[in-house]
Amino acid sequence: PVDRRVDDLLRRMTLEEKVGQMTQIRLGKLRGNCEWNPGPLREDCMKAVLEDAKVGSILSGGGEVPNPNTPRAWAEMTNAIQKFALDHSRLKIPVIYGADGVHGHSNVVSATMFPHQVGLGATWNPDLLEEIGASTGRAMRATGVFWNFAPVSDLARDTRWGRYYETYSEDPVLAGSLAAANVRGQQGPADDTAKLTATAKHFAGYSEPFNGHDRAPAQLPIRYLQDTVLPAFQPQFDAGVGTVMINSGAVNGVPAHASKYLLTEQLRDRMGFRGVAITDWEDIRFLVDRYHVAADYREAIALAVNAGVDMAMEPSNAAEFTSGLLANVRSGAISGRRIDQAVRRILTLKFQLGLFEKPFVDEAKADSIVEGADRRLARQAATEGTVLLRNEGVLPLSTNARKLVVTGDAADSVPRQLGGWTVGWQGIPSGSPLPPAVTVLQGIRTAVPAADVVSAPTQADAVTQAAGADAVVVVLGEDPGAEGDADTESPELTAEQQALVTAVRATGTPVVVVLLTGRPQVLGAVADAPALVAGWLPGSEGGNAIADVLFGAVNPSGKLAVSWPKTIGDQPFSYDQPRGANAGPSSSYDPQFAFGHGLSYTTFTTSTPVLKATEVRRDDQVRLSVAVANTGDRDGTVVVPVYVHQPVSQVLTPYQRLVGFTRVTLKAHEQRTVEVGFPTKHLAVTAGDMHGDGRPEVARGAYEVLVGEGRAGFTVR
Ligand code: IFM
Repeated sequence: PVDRRVDDLLRRMTLEEKVGQMTQIRLGKLRGNCEWNPGPLREDCMKAVLEDAKVGSILSGGGEVPNPNTPRAWAEMTNAIQKFALDHSRLKIPVIYGADGVHGHSNVVSATMFPHQVGLGATWNPDLLEEIGASTGRAMRATGVFWNFAPVSDLARDTRWGRYYETYSEDPVLAGSLAAANVRGQQGPADDTAKLTATAKHFAGYSEPFNGHDRAPAQLPIRYLQDTVLPAFQPQFDAGVGTVMINSGAVNGVPAHASKYLLTEQLRDRMGFRGVAITDWEDIRFLVDRYHVAADYREAIALAVNAGVDMAMEPSNAAEFTSGLLANVRSGAISGRRIDQAVRRILTLKFQLGLFEKPFVDEAKADSIVEGADRRLARQAATEGTVLLRNEGVLPLSTNARKLVVTGDAADSVPRQLGGWTVGWQGIPSGSPLPPAVTVLQGIRTAVPAADVVSAPTQADAVTQAAGADAVVVVLGEDPGAEGDADTESPELTAEQQALVTAVRATGTPVVVVLLTGRPQVLGAVADAPALVAGWLPGSEGGNAIADVLFGAVNPSGKLAVSWPKTIGDQPFSYDQPRGANAGPSSSYDPQFAFGHGLSYTTFTTSTPVLKATEVRRDDQVRLSVAVANTGDRDGTVVVPVYVHQPVSQVLTPYQRLVGFTRVTLKAHEQRTVEVGFPTKHLAVTAGDMHGDGRPEVARGAYEVLVGEGRAGFTVR
């Protein structure tokens, strides 16, 4: 029936109405100017955008919010836009409103902010990601936002890059599995509103700018692109993600927005994506004035749309974009069939979401659905993502402690704890009310109400107060930021941060260092701190979650989903380096903390894996079981990663590749046998000498699965 309804509309639409659907315009244009947070919607501006240009989608770019920034005001605003669009259009096609809900409905001050993706990656918990997706979707839908520009499937491979914290992992199997779970949650059933679409972004190769600077070109061998970068997106496509956002950068000399190879051959023909492909912000224009692959804007539009762009996000000037698109159709540079294909995808999405039936939301419900919701889930997510990196007998701290000193730049800072994309694009804008969040200082005070918890804002205070204290907790962070503004040449702790830790350690009082940073920082003098905890950017409940781990209310289970570099020269960096980088039998991988690392207050062992079958077909699943034992005195959860090693391969392969994983919760001294499976497609490699222009295939032959210290061989027939 959706197809028939789309056919019917397409038959009746004018070309102008069609190109309007292919356009997404920022909220500021409906408010009469381009200021970020200006006044109310203006009738004349809404007429220009929605009635004259017939625009089919509106977005809030990071930080374009109503005033006041409450859930109800969001709902009133999106309803007003929708009403204007429906009242002033011939065919009554609803608009779809989009925003970046990258860690919860993070544009809204009173929403629950979950940890950023880098912290969620360390949970290795797809079920949790699905719940977070559902919570985010519920909050966004309640405010009339039915398109979320999340999650990010780009891989975390360069800590200089400003968007590192927006990624789940350096590994495609882990990142893909978490992203797909998040999409399932976001796009899950809706009650009395339309449904929401998530976005797989940024397709593809965005996270590997050659010099670490956001949007700088990437040079990615096709073999690497096909075997590592693209597979991180596939699970989202298989889960039915509704939209894809395109990489703003260039890959191998071709801007992704002009790449038919990426946007049609790979995305559609090979990977089977069926939804809407949208540009990133103003990106068609950049084909002219950043990349110089088109002589003028009109030519750029033809390049992008013919490559596979269905909708242009904020093309600066809607009239210029739509008239350029029309001119291209009239001249034959873009075919009418291609326009119909793009519009068909957009209308299909709107029908599938139910926007025609439920274009409006109940304004009276918005506040109660969004405000303070799911704080328990946010706390669980932040505790599960916290990674205990080092512990020389300092942790857990005693709940009977009499005096604790809390110091460091992130100890009591909501903006640092929540990071970029919080209320505003670069983090909480000055002048905005602070979102309700529990800082580490507050979390510790709540966890040990009888203790004297002293806040020491300066190094001198911390050193003085350390005398006679049970412990000093040093919480270090980084400035919030987003995109290029968060790039850094030196992803390391600052000299001041290192000096603070050195000074408090010199007092002899036990020291715990907590890092609230969006990327692994090179540690310098902090590398051998007796207790080191990575809390990432842990969201609204971060302070409670860190306290849960520090005092042992929760036994830490977070495992690194990224490699922690030793030096700032370790870029790009990942565990799956191809063999051959040194003379030895294993890899040259030499991190500060390895991918998968994370300590617990108990100990676990895993048995040698037992394979269900030692011969599998190329389209099959490999199944294995392994006995996992908690050998310590505390209950705990352990992640069991499964790697595959290929002893002989036609082209270089990594010493080990992650193919699957499971999480197991065990009581003290409990043992359980668990089963894990993975599709052999995770072993696929693009073969061929030098060019690597074939398709990834699973090579026949011998492999080994590696679980802990154990291994077992199997053959692919
Ligand atoms: O979704 C974002 C994207 O990730 C970066 N540029 C702006 C978009 C919309 O805010």
